[in-house]
Amino acid sequence: MKKDIKKVLFVATECNPFWATGGLGDVIGSLPGALRNAGVDARVMLPLFEKSLDKAGLTRLGQITVPLAWRNQSCGIYTTQRGGVTYYFVENEYYFKRPAIYGEYDDGERFAFFSRAVWEILRFLDYKPDVVHSNDWQTALVPIYHKLIYRDFDKTKDVFTIHNIEYQGKFDRAILGDVFGIDEEHYSLLDFDGCINLVKGAMEVCDALTTVSPTYAQQLSDNYYAMGLGAIVAKNSHKLRGILNGIDEDLYDPSKASGIFAPFDAADLSGKAENKHELQRLLNLPLSDAPMLAVISRLASHKGIDLIKNTLDEILKEDVQLVVLGTGEKSYEEYFSHMQQTVPGKVSAIIAFNKDLAQKVYAASDIFLMPSKSEPCGLSQMIACRFGSIPVVRATGGLKDSIKHYTKKSGNGFVFDGYNGGEFLAAVRKAIGCYRTDKWHELRHNAMTSDFGWSKSARAYIKIYKELTK
Ligand code: GLC
Repeated sequence: MKKDIKKVLFVATECNPFWATGGLGDVIGSLPGALRNAGVDARVMLPLFEKSLDKAGLTRLGQITVPLAWRNQSCGIYTTQRGGVTYYFVENEYYFKRPAIYGEYDDGERFAFFSRAVWEILRFLDYKPDVVHSNDWQTALVPIYHKLIYRDFDKTKDVFTIHNIEYQGKFDRAILGDVFGIDEEHYSLLDFDGCINLVKGAMEVCDALTTVSPTYAQQLSDNYYAMGLGAIVAKNSHKLRGILNGIDEDLYDPSKASGIFAPFDAADLSGKAENKHELQRLLNLPLSDAPMLAVISRLASHKGIDLIKNTLDEILKEDVQLVVLGTGEKSYEEYFSHMQQTVPGKVSAIIAFNKDLAQKVYAASDIFLMPSKSEPCGLSQMIACRFGSIPVVRATGGLKDSIKHYTKKSGNGFVFDGYNGGEFLAAVRKAIGCYRTDKWHELRHNAMTSDFGWSKSARAYIKIYKELTK
């Protein structure tokens, strides 16, 4: 019997190792490979952001014209293979050869072009995937265009994944015909609260809707977590599944990681102490064995930075050091820089997005603070565990699904429920207290050996693909 190999095309705007601004890039950089290993023909299509990737190293497959309302835009098609996965790149210098990936005045037009190009390229390549799997608002037009325009792909199914419902792709109504090239008669499909909402449209038309943890999937029925889209989630809840993200366990392996000062693993932790001392030297902190707390995060309110801010004076009364790495809201950036000035031997704040330094901080630190207000999945808490930095997290979204509170023998971190300074501080104190006891070794061992690989979740995705295409 011929083996039924599913053809799944991922469509996204971020993918490691090419470029990423957050967790989406990690997921698109590792899930397709895991699906490949499980027997799926998974491929990935991305815009070619030329600032991050030189097309000289890619193979050119051809050139087509992509219609976008009254425009006809040229589109180069490039490809490469990495680790058994085929990547396609959509080239248009006008849209994608820019300094920034996002935040341009015409993002709506740029990603509408990309979304139409996806289908035009599939026609050009005569490649008919069983499933097109789109991710977040930038590719929300992919399933929408499929249903409205590309009816020749009648056997292809659409999966849409929400990595964070905060970003919905909202636009003024005027963009519908003039930029997206969609008839007024379809306005109601994309309309939400008087404006165009691409995530809403994708939720309505997709065949399966997923998000990145079971708890976040549940929370999305609450209008607060759904950022206003609660009614649309409820209407489409029969299609919704929450599947916990994994991480690339080879990439985030302290025995192999290239950017850290010394390798280590769960059986031999001597290198961990070296990482701490080298980072203290680098950051001008006193050489000390006091617990080192770390924050590696976008400095945004939903990451729970207020809880850290409001309890920091108390936390710093303990014998600890704090390293903060991240960028974001000005007021938070200024606050942490100010704290570094005020308490120089204890606080180091690096206001930057620096992946290399992030690895070093994961490897050096003992306790990882992530008290998010909401967190669809979160990958940092998993990476921290792998590097033996014990997470203190709030029980929300994927944090709740990946970190279990340490009691006696089991558990890989410290978990608190209520979004308030008191509960957070108590959890931090528990972690600091435990650091000084023999229990710490057991806890750290649990954390470092937690299963954060993709195999279980890849099986959950495959189940969806099979259900859709049987
Ligand atoms: C978004 C979410 C984060 C998740 C990531 C990957 O960045 O905010 O929680 O881990 O996507 O799915």
